Amino acid sequence: MLYIACRTKLTYLRWWCYLVKTHNIIGTVYLIVNVKMILFRKFRVLILMVFLVACTMHIMIDLLPKLEKRAAGTNSGTGGCSCSHNPSEEPRNWAKQQARSGPESGWPNKHTLRILQDFSNEPSSNLTSHSLEKVTGTVDKADSEKRIPLVPGNIKDTGAGKKRYAPGFSRLAALYDHPLYKIDPPSLKDDDTLFSVNTDIRLYPKTAGNPEWHNEGNAEEEEYSPTGGATTESYPNWLRFHVGINRYELYSRHNPTIDALLKDLVSQSITSVAMKSGGTQLKLIMTFHNYGQALFKPMKQTREKETPPDFFYFSDFERHNAEVAAFHLDRILDFRRVPPVAGRLVNMTREIRDVTRDKKLWRTFFISPANNICFYGECSYYCSTEHALCGKPDQIEGSLAAFLPDLALAKRKTWRSPWRRSYHKRKKAEWEVDPDYCDEVKQTPPYDQGTRLLDVMDMAVFDFLMGNMDRHHYETFEKFGNETFIIHLDNGRGFGKHSHDELSILVPLSQCCRVKRSTYLRLQLLAKEEFKLSTLMEESLLRDRLSPVLIRPHLEALDRRLRVVLKVLSDCVEKEGFASVVEDDLRSPHHESGARGR
Ligand SMILES: *[C@@H]1O[C@H](CO)[C@@H](O)[C@H](O)[C@H]1NC(C)=O
Ligand SMILES: *[C@@H]1O[C@H](CO)[C@@H](O)[C@H](O)[C@H]1NC(C)=O
Ligand SMILES: *[C@@H]1O[C@H](CO)[C@@H](O)[C@H](O)[C@H]1NC(C)=O
Repeated sequence: MLYIACRTKLTYLRWWCYLVKTHNIIGTVYLIVNVKMILFRKFRVLILMVFLVACTMHIMIDLLPKLEKRAAGTNSGTGGCSCSHNPSEEPRNWAKQQARSGPESGWPNKHTLRILQDFSNEPSSNLTSHSLEKVTGTVDKADSEKRIPLVPGNIKDTGAGKKRYAPGFSRLAALYDHPLYKIDPPSLKDDDTLFSVNTDIRLYPKTAGNPEWHNEGNAEEEEYSPTGGATTESYPNWLRFHVGINRYELYSRHNPTIDALLKDLVSQSITSVAMKSGGTQLKLIMTFHNYGQALFKPMKQTREKETPPDFFYFSDFERHNAEVAAFHLDRILDFRRVPPVAGRLVNMTREIRDVTRDKKLWRTFFISPANNICFYGECSYYCSTEHALCGKPDQIEGSLAAFLPDLALAKRKTWRSPWRRSYHKRKKAEWEVDPDYCDEVKQTPPYDQGTRLLDVMDMAVFDFLMGNMDRHHYETFEKFGNETFIIHLDNGRGFGKHSHDELSILVPLSQCCRVKRSTYLRLQLLAKEEFKLSTLMEESLLRDRLSPVLIRPHLEALDRRLRVVLKVLSDCVEKEGFASVVEDDLRSPHHESGARGR
């Protein structure tokens, strides 16, 4: 019956199914959330209730024999969610059928297919030797974590005893070894983590005691923990990333999960593709074999192509390499507010056309006169034959950004940026005409207290360095209220022009003259010849599959812009005095909580 739940077209039921199946932690919370949501949908209430009851019964029925077998009590299981045990043959057949009969006749009922595909690529499917290698490769890292339960608070421990760098000199390693990159985050209380992991209940048995049971249906699980046991290692990396999110950061420094997640983004097989609705340009939501999801932005123009001088910032293309570079830049600045992004070369036929259930997307595929595969999808601009995205001949580059937790699990609040542009060819925004605009902002909640204003200053620096003029909104996790970091999503309009420094992006900083001391010191460090932002970026980006991600002039622009930022700051200090410009967020061990008066 869970099987049915897993196949329903209702996304949240499916989510619930696989949360129960693969991880358990959030399962219960999630169920409650679901029930709430269901109550809003009057006409579905009855059916869904039946589903939920049926699912619960199913788990219990499924569990009982196991619990008996296993002498009761070693675990309270992962439930044999049968959705993973019964991989359907349908999708594969369908794919063939589709190939034979073409789009018009080959499309079976959308609803039945939609979900089937998510669960089609399961235990019995082939793991390539490559991905096996990868999985075993990450085990070493996982081992270092094994001793501690996955409590997001254990930020210091997770990085311990881990070799992260290849032998040979690495500036990046030297940077991350610098005391400024070793400042402990505030200690976390219960409500400082996005999800609470129930460590009292051991959901996965550590014993290798019952191999039959283990093999019975959880081959998938084994894939994640090839050592055959263990607790938290069986969480897929994307979930570990979600569980690690807290009030102060999206991920901790030296977190092995992030590197593993980046590898997943590049190597996990893609099981389904959908178009993201809304937005001006085509973006695809890709779902992976381990149920992780990522936002795919295909390459629209080459790295060398600068934004034409007559283009408005809002009509520029989004750049896939900017998304990748922004993640690395944010990490080097030690903000850690951009979700992990990796570049990937995607086979357009096998990994998009053949796995999408979206007829509208499927129909836009064609073969160009040069014999390349192309498609254009559906969106409000640039989705037409003239703006088609073409492969070489069937491979296309793109950026894959790991999804944040589902909005049903962790709501986010969207804030309008106080320094938002007018998005109009002639109109000016208020901040552009009023030099004292910041005084107003400083008195408006939530900028009147806490670190929000300083976080916006950080964001201005980040955006100026990459030349991103398109920061109209930002987001926070609702759970943390006003006292939390801000998430830097959507960086595709950065790195458009390397020959021009857009000073208006720095206006928040030059108008407010406020900066966190930690940011100020790091910027000074990155400007030093021995570190040098451009060299660090270059080294960091070498790890990406699409390296070189940025052409040299863009890297060099970073150093030049960093000097501009420091100049603005030193002018501020000269004008208003160090103490009123630089906010000391490094005072106590609980520096940030101190600053927040918590
Ligand atoms: C796995 O791959 C091999 C060839 O690589 C193929 O013969 C076999 O049928 C595949 N098995 C499954 C279950 O897809
Ligand atoms: C892409 O996938 C198709 C199968 O759908 C295959 O024929 C083709 O060789 C692949 N292209 C590359 C470059 O691997
Ligand atoms: C958070 O900010 C909003 C302004 O957007 C304000 O109305 C609210 O009172 C603030 N909450 C707290 C707890 O300060």
